[in-house]
Amino acid sequence: MRSCVPSLSQAPRALLLFVTALCLASCASLHRGVADGRIESLIARMTVEEKVGQLSLYAPAGEIVGNPQAAHQSAERELADIRAGRITGFFNGQGLEAKRRAQQAAVKESRLGIPLIFAADIIHGFRTVFPVPLGEAASWEPALAERTTRASAEEASSDGFRWTFAPMVDIARDARWGRGVEGAGEDVLLSSRFAAARVRGFQGPDLSRPDAMLATPKHFAGYGAAEGGLDYNTVDLSERTLREVYLPPFKAAIDAGALSIMSAFNEISGIPSNANRALLTGILRGEWGFKGFVVSDYTADEELIAHGFAADGREAAKRAFLAGTDVSMQSGLYMRWLPELVASGEVPMERLDDAVRRVLRVKEKLGLFDAPFRGLEDDPPGTTRYDAAAHQALAREAARRSIVLLKNQGDLLPLSKSGTRIALIGPFAGMSDLFGPWMVFRGQAAPVSIEDALRGALADPSLLSVSRGSNVETALPGGIDAAVAAARAADVVVLSIGESEKMSGEASSRSDIEVPQPQQDLANAIAATGKPVVVLLRNGRALALKQGVRDARAILVTWFLGSQTGPAIADILFGDASPSGRLPVSFPQTPGQVPYYYSHKRTGRPELADHPDLSYRARYIDATNEALYPFGFGLGYAPVRYEALEVGPAQLAWNGTLSVKARIANTGHRDVEETAQLYIGNRAASVTRPVRELKAFRKVNVPAGGATEVEFTLSRRDLEFIGQDLQPTVEPGQFDLWVGPSAVGGLHSTFVLAPG
Ligand code: GLC
Repeated sequence: MRSCVPSLSQAPRALLLFVTALCLASCASLHRGVADGRIESLIARMTVEEKVGQLSLYAPAGEIVGNPQAAHQSAERELADIRAGRITGFFNGQGLEAKRRAQQAAVKESRLGIPLIFAADIIHGFRTVFPVPLGEAASWEPALAERTTRASAEEASSDGFRWTFAPMVDIARDARWGRGVEGAGEDVLLSSRFAAARVRGFQGPDLSRPDAMLATPKHFAGYGAAEGGLDYNTVDLSERTLREVYLPPFKAAIDAGALSIMSAFNEISGIPSNANRALLTGILRGEWGFKGFVVSDYTADEELIAHGFAADGREAAKRAFLAGTDVSMQSGLYMRWLPELVASGEVPMERLDDAVRRVLRVKEKLGLFDAPFRGLEDDPPGTTRYDAAAHQALAREAARRSIVLLKNQGDLLPLSKSGTRIALIGPFAGMSDLFGPWMVFRGQAAPVSIEDALRGALADPSLLSVSRGSNVETALPGGIDAAVAAARAADVVVLSIGESEKMSGEASSRSDIEVPQPQQDLANAIAATGKPVVVLLRNGRALALKQGVRDARAILVTWFLGSQTGPAIADILFGDASPSGRLPVSFPQTPGQVPYYYSHKRTGRPELADHPDLSYRARYIDATNEALYPFGFGLGYAPVRYEALEVGPAQLAWNGTLSVKARIANTGHRDVEETAQLYIGNRAASVTRPVRELKAFRKVNVPAGGATEVEFTLSRRDLEFIGQDLQPTVEPGQFDLWVGPSAVGGLHSTFVLAPG
């Protein structure tokens, strides 16, 4: 047993360390005390209107980026409001000069000089565009997401933005819903890991740094459970499902340090989230101890009237504010009604002060009080605050790692760069729809298209032909004939088809999740030529693939990959990089199967794999229950085999751990990156449990002809679920366990959790 008391020879060093730590701690608390003192003295001097002004956020007058309905008040009126302390900040306004002017008015020309905060929807990049978040989630590398969000924050903060309305952490299990593209898919664990990583990336190590951005996990909560996948639609969730599926990514984001959160448009079982006290105060503050502030989604407070949850603006403001939404975005309702509501006593001054205190503390943490103009100055000519080339390289790396190989019959891929005549066909070969939804700003470096990248990669560019074949949602007169001719003249077809940017994202739900018919017709015509086809899907959601698309010899899911779309696809097509992505969402067989997700319940009449013809079972009469490609699925350029599963001990002690090992053998001739996934299934509990739940994953390199061992450790915490009392619960019992390459199959074992 080593002595924990340092020997004499070490005493001075240890003492020095101890004293230093003590000083740092006391300096921090002193700083916090000074900051709190400044804030409290401000609050004591603020009028009610100035207090409400700190809770009022707007898109800037005139220049409305991405929000066409924004109140177009005049620039003069806006400056007057800033000087009167009636505005806390702006979102989605571009340019440093406008921000400097507004900050000047706030800090130098208002009574109390409280700085503004500038926000933006920085979702997947700013000047450099990274893959859409759902595509990036296919990397199954939260650390990668931390790097791309950090790069995004470096770029956006150089334009004066210090607050992003991201990460979107909504679980999405219905592919018809357009906003799944902004999140990390259907699974609780994967989404939680990406949520935390994206918060860390945006906020960085220290919020007071000029390149730090306040993160805003959104949309709190349950937004992705909209009935019918119809955006903004009713959400009717049990509290258990809300707590077990939809809340954990938010908790992960807050545990990672997020200090703002955005309340959602949707109701949950009759109570709109934006005025849901049980959610915004009971859970968020009472259970989770959240210390930041809640900002409404765009006019979500005013929409309480449309919901039929408030008779008018006054009642909407009252209900939203008393429920726990601190800041009102865009409606102006708080400025219009809170002073009167406070005067009448319907809104306690203490509640108003709490909200103001939260906002001012965050502004303080961002360093806005100490240096309100820091980051708003122009860079000296020829300099930038970030390494643009490094960001482009990161964009290419992230794009490569987001690509999922679903099929590669006869090892058609990788293609050769020489001697192969390639017909690039489809509406996404060129410069359109490379960025994906939620790129509300312009001014990016020119992205690289598939056509340009292929031409650049080929030894003889003349071997590449390009033919559009079809428009995205309409036929192209003569397009198919021309494309068929190009296919006949080629050795291989690369078919770039799918969805345009506007077919996913906000207010972009689709009732059908197939490739639009004109493109399907094109794919079928190309398939009929008998030429080998590589399908490149451009998509913001899981798609139901059929006929010529489904039957192609090779299929790559390429989402919206951003600035480096072309080079990343070329890297994979020609084998300069191997595909390593895995699906973060299940790809169903048919649109009628959605909502489709792997961690579904058994039901009392589950389909029985060994009795598929049994009737009176939970299955459609016209479709299988299986996914076309399951959650977690993806191929590399070499086959791998999972083997040698070892699980021990057979009985997991209540306070013990379980070791799970497996070996992954690469039986091919190229190295692969494999994502080993660990799932559990609880055979019987006091609440029904999903057939499987992802509990761990590990991305490993498996060298050609070699093998790599993976090891996981489980404890009873991994077996937790929400019990009948709606509390986290663990119960002894029998569990299944799988280690494998997706949510289907894998090496199977069982174990027992012993009673405590
Ligand atoms: C939109 C979105 C939200 C976004 C906000 C500001 O309606 O729902 O995600 O951050 O308005 O643009």
